[in-house]
Amino acid sequence: MEVAATILTILLLLIFLGVTLLWKPSPCLKTLGGKHVLITGGSSGIGLAIAKEALSQGAFVTLIARSSAKLEKAIDKLVDNKTISADRISTKIADVGDYETLADAIEQSFQWRAIDVVVCNAGWAKFGYIDEIPIKDLHATINTNLSGMVNTLHVALRLMKHRSDQEHARPPIDKNTFGSQMV
Ligand SMILES: NC(=O)c1ccc[n+]([C@@H]2O[C@H](COP(=O)([O-])OP(=O)(O)OC[C@H]3O[C@@H](n4cnc5c(N)ncnc54)[C@H](OP(=O)(O)O)[C@@H]3O)[C@@H](O)[C@H]2O)c1
Repeated sequence: MEVAATILTILLLLIFLGVTLLWKPSPCLKTLGGKHVLITGGSSGIGLAIAKEALSQGAFVTLIARSSAKLEKAIDKLVDNKTISADRISTKIADVGDYETLADAIEQSFQWRAIDVVVCNAGWAKFGYIDEIPIKDLHATINTNLSGMVNTLHVALRLMKHRSDQEHARPPIDKNTFGSQMV
């Protein structure tokens, strides 16, 4: 009897240890509902499709691209007058290769709503043999596809981390001081 109880205790202990060590909450968002998704190159192609999906899940989106005409057309394509309204979409004109302009755009976007998800999608390519493509085109590709992504992350992550630090530093809300904290 004593042996059976010991075996059972060990088994339960092993199960408990296994569950605690192996179970990890998923770091992935289950839904984008209420989240703010920033998409570079969001005015056409893959970026526009990502914006559409995020909006259909209830997200707010910021689209960044260079052409204001393309951004306006993108809004027309995204707003369906049923579930997706224009007030969930913000657009910013910026070249991702231009750090200063991009930083302004992302900071303004962050002021609209804190950014939760960043999609570094802006990019292009000229196809051909490397020695036949003009060097200015190769440099432009690197400036958009590589530096553009680094620029975007450099600005957005700093703001996102700052917000996260502030949230963790915030004291728990006490019901007696709730009114004054809201003020
Ligand atoms: N389509 C494919 O088969 C394929 C395959 C592999 C990888 N990709 C990559 O996936 C991404 C999207 O491709 P896509 O086919 O959807 O391209 P796309 O339809 O040509 O759209 C590109 C988007 O990026 C914007 N953009 C381009 N250069 C920019 C810059 N310097 N600064 C800010 N925005 C810029 C464009 O708007 P503006 O021109 O107004 O700036 C547009 O919104 C690209 O990075 C591409 O390299 C695509």
